[in-house]
Amino acid sequence: MTRELLSAWKERSAKHQPAYPDADFLGTTVDYLRSLPPLIFAGEADSLTAEMARASRGETFVLQGGDCAESFVDATADRIRAKIRTILQMAVVLTYSASVPVVKLGRMAGQYAKPRSNPMEGRDGLELPSYMGDAVNGHAFTPEARTPDPHRLVEAYQHSAATLNLIRAFAGGGFADLAKVHEWNRGFSANPAYHRYTAMAREIDRAMQFMRAAGAYTDSLKTVDFYSSHEALLLDYEDAMTRIDSRTGLPYNTGAHFLWIGERTRDADGAHVEMLSHVQNPIGVKLGPNATTDEIRALIDKLNPEGKEGRLTFITRLGAEKVVDKLPEIIDAVRDDGRPVTWMCDPMHGNTISVGDFKTRRLDDVLDEVRGFFRVHRELGTIPGGLHIELTGDDVTEVLGGSEAIVEAKLGERYETLVDPRLNHQQSLELAFLVSEILREDF
Ligand code: TRP
Ligand code: MN
Repeated sequence: MTRELLSAWKERSAKHQPAYPDADFLGTTVDYLRSLPPLIFAGEADSLTAEMARASRGETFVLQGGDCAESFVDATADRIRAKIRTILQMAVVLTYSASVPVVKLGRMAGQYAKPRSNPMEGRDGLELPSYMGDAVNGHAFTPEARTPDPHRLVEAYQHSAATLNLIRAFAGGGFADLAKVHEWNRGFSANPAYHRYTAMAREIDRAMQFMRAAGAYTDSLKTVDFYSSHEALLLDYEDAMTRIDSRTGLPYNTGAHFLWIGERTRDADGAHVEMLSHVQNPIGVKLGPNATTDEIRALIDKLNPEGKEGRLTFITRLGAEKVVDKLPEIIDAVRDDGRPVTWMCDPMHGNTISVGDFKTRRLDDVLDEVRGFFRVHRELGTIPGGLHIELTGDDVTEVLGGSEAIVEAKLGERYETLVDPRLNHQQSLELAFLVSEILREDF
């Protein structure tokens, strides 16, 4: 019975799937993937569901962050450490300044596939498949690189495994120790957001010394729970990672703790929703400004029919201009339905603009959407449960603005993303301070 349900997605229409030239090779690759060990365990996914439930009640706040798309060459210790450090710094700002516990959720260890608006890209008379992320094809504009290659799914698995292994080491092996708050900021230049962080780190140090002196120093100050997530886009890969838990007999996607369905693939009758409706993990769905009441109800019917708390998260990505108009309609649709959801804000994807050759975003728009998200939830009496952002730990110049004043002429200096522009380390801290101020009023 379960096994039949697990293949039901094959009867549904699947958008944004790569056109693999060799179906047999894809088949043997997926079989091989199916034989590889799980990356996460059922019990961990259940713990995250419980955390998401707490977030829906306002007892904790979810911070989900990472690259738009990870890349194989950037799956290095330095880059991974920088990203974790940024997320930990943001988390500590929220935890300390707003006294709110934070669920740390990386957009990491599996975020290797992207839906593209156009499946083909043309340059100088040559038409090739668009780059869909390292799990599918290469970024270079050559027929060899751009042809979807099933073996990349295995590489994606291996990089995910190595990344998650390092995340687990950082989370539990001393790097995440609150005694290191100062060290996380070392090497960053003088800038208002850094000064503010340093001042806060000093206060935390004093508080820790006090707790040590008072005999209240516990192990929970030394480690964090750090969860993984990615967009469940490539159905062959996600299917291979879906396994039956031996203890409960229930299916889990063992490729990440949390999976989300993108704005472009969230059709309630489509293959993506069908597949994720049968796994036990906590699931997110992105909602853009065109989401209708009927679509929202159909998604709840399909993904959380029993109304289990923490199971379903709606991640709204409406844009700074639309959030105040559109979010109330979305919230009303959910409230009329009555089943619980966790609300998160993605202030990135509704605020993408083009400046010259660059795809960018304005930090001010990002902050505006965040403010709008909190304001609307406060007015309607619903609970803002978390934030979903695209960030890197490095000093890139991809998003405009911030106290370092990245202006249009500077975008080219360190524009490294293969897909969407990401907040750099310093802009991420600024965002965390803003959110901590809002949370302090709210909680
Ligand atoms: N374990 C606690 C938590 O995860 C405290 C903590 C330890 C922490 N290291 C941290 C909080 C780093 C934020 C960042 O909240
Ligand atoms: Mn993106």
